[in-house]
Amino acid sequence: MYTPENGKIWLATGGERVYLEPSMANRHGLIAGATGTGKTVTLKVVAESFSEMGVPVFIADIKGDVSGMCLPGCENKHIRRSIDTMGIEDFNYTSFPVRFFDVYARLGHPVRTTISDMGPELLSRLLGLNETQSGVLRIVFRIADDQGLLLLDLKDLRLMLQYVADNSAEYKIRYGNVSAQSVGAIQRALLTLEDEGGDVFFGEPMLEIADWFDWDDDGRGVMNILECAELFQHPLLYGTFLLWMLSELYELLPEAGDLDKPKIAFFFDEAHLLFKDAPKALLEKVEQVVRLIRSKGVSVWFITQNPMDIPESVLAQIGNRVQHALRAYTPNEQKAIRAAARSFRVNEAFDTETVLQELSTGEALVSVLDEKGVPGIVQRANILPPKSSMNAVEPAVIGTVVANSPLFEKYAVSVDRESAYEILSAAAEEAAAQAEEEARAKEEEKRRIAEEKERAAEEKRKAAEQRAKEREKAQKKAASKKKTSTVGRAASATMNSIGREVGRQVGKQLVRGLFGTLKR
Ligand SMILES: Nc1ncnc2c1ncn2[C@@H]1O[C@H](COP(=O)(O)OP(=O)(O)OP(=O)(O)O)[C@@H](O)[C@H]1O
Ligand SMILES: [Mg+2]
Repeated sequence: MYTPENGKIWLATGGERVYLEPSMANRHGLIAGATGTGKTVTLKVVAESFSEMGVPVFIADIKGDVSGMCLPGCENKHIRRSIDTMGIEDFNYTSFPVRFFDVYARLGHPVRTTISDMGPELLSRLLGLNETQSGVLRIVFRIADDQGLLLLDLKDLRLMLQYVADNSAEYKIRYGNVSAQSVGAIQRALLTLEDEGGDVFFGEPMLEIADWFDWDDDGRGVMNILECAELFQHPLLYGTFLLWMLSELYELLPEAGDLDKPKIAFFFDEAHLLFKDAPKALLEKVEQVVRLIRSKGVSVWFITQNPMDIPESVLAQIGNRVQHALRAYTPNEQKAIRAAARSFRVNEAFDTETVLQELSTGEALVSVLDEKGVPGIVQRANILPPKSSMNAVEPAVIGTVVANSPLFEKYAVSVDRESAYEILSAAAEEAAAQAEEEARAKEEEKRRIAEEKERAAEEKRKAAEQRAKEREKAQKKAASKKKTSTVGRAASATMNSIGREVGRQVGKQLVRGLFGTLKR
């Protein structure tokens, strides 16, 4: 709960009150614990406080239970007991300003991005490409970027791949080798992605992350909730997509230095999916983004069952920790408990490992950074109750929120503006049509000449019939030779024309940022 008197977030109460220091929120947070121990409720309590202090929030909602934040909570005996025992004065059940987003456009504003924007790094991950294939994809993006050619959706990328493959000799010296084999493998991976429904979020209008930054009339930050129930069924899609959002956020925001509160808080549920089976190079990039995004005023919160699922290099950057109960049935679980316990500053009053297994629902071991960035001694504490509803809301309620949102018009209809596909295929079509027209005109001319000759020969027909026939044969033979060379010229005209069309797009070279996503 945001406490205006000291400008801090009252998060939990144990022996004493535990406050989260907003100026240290950009040192990120971790909410961990076994299933059903209270992670999502903790997430809500932290998110509500950020909103109350005017910080917009983004939350990935995997089970649908975050959606309840658009409705006020209702009295129950557990919450009443918490309110009483913690001495929470003027606790009020209230709803929060919520915007819903949904990649599948069912329970929220559609979320779309373009191939150009996602960039080769994240797309390689999504397609499961190997090193060589990723290298080829990078080249294809470079060529498109250098020529200012937009790749909006999968059909653009497919055609661009084909175009580069067809003209690989031309690009080899400047960009490197693009083998037909790799292009084939990428094309196949694209088909698989499409079969899995991975093409839904490529297109326009693209989600503008800037739209997340909004406030209600009371100055409370908007809660941007991404419905992830279906997206989560495809873990790679989920992980990559959220990573894209994080990197967009990184590219959007300027350096901010030290702030008294974050500019936005980003809650990443089931965060382990971000790292699962990720290649080393990608892990390094994630680590880099998490580190650098700090100075842009972004507070990233990782929510996961087992903190060990998050790489050490990322964990090391997390300053604020809420650790709910962990189970210790298997040796692996025991190891996780030891690791979690070791990540805290010891409290002489209790044994961290033992307490970790005893914690009840809604209770946690909490350690936050103080104003100077020093980690506090671990506290055993009860997390405050949320003010909004803890339950999932009906789809009809979400529908109403979406229909009344100021973003409704902007994202409702998908558009297909001119991009690589249209340009390349229009150029190819134009060139083909031109070639066809030329061939037709030549054919016509031949016929005319043949007819004239036949007319001239008419008078001497009887005498010269045999000779005239032979001559016509010879002319047809000559004509077919001519036609072959015409087709050859038409093909090279097609390529030149595509080159010219692509060239016409130049004017703005596209530049990529840290994560390979487009810079604006
Ligand atoms: N701080 C709290 N105050 C009151 N009740 C709580 C609190 N935390 C948890 N609860 C109760 O415990 C239930 C389970 O909590 P929650 O959904 O947050 O668990 P979870 O760790 O997110 O579980 P899962 O891993 O299944 O997502 C809640 O529905 C709520 O009834
Ligand atoms: Mg949960």
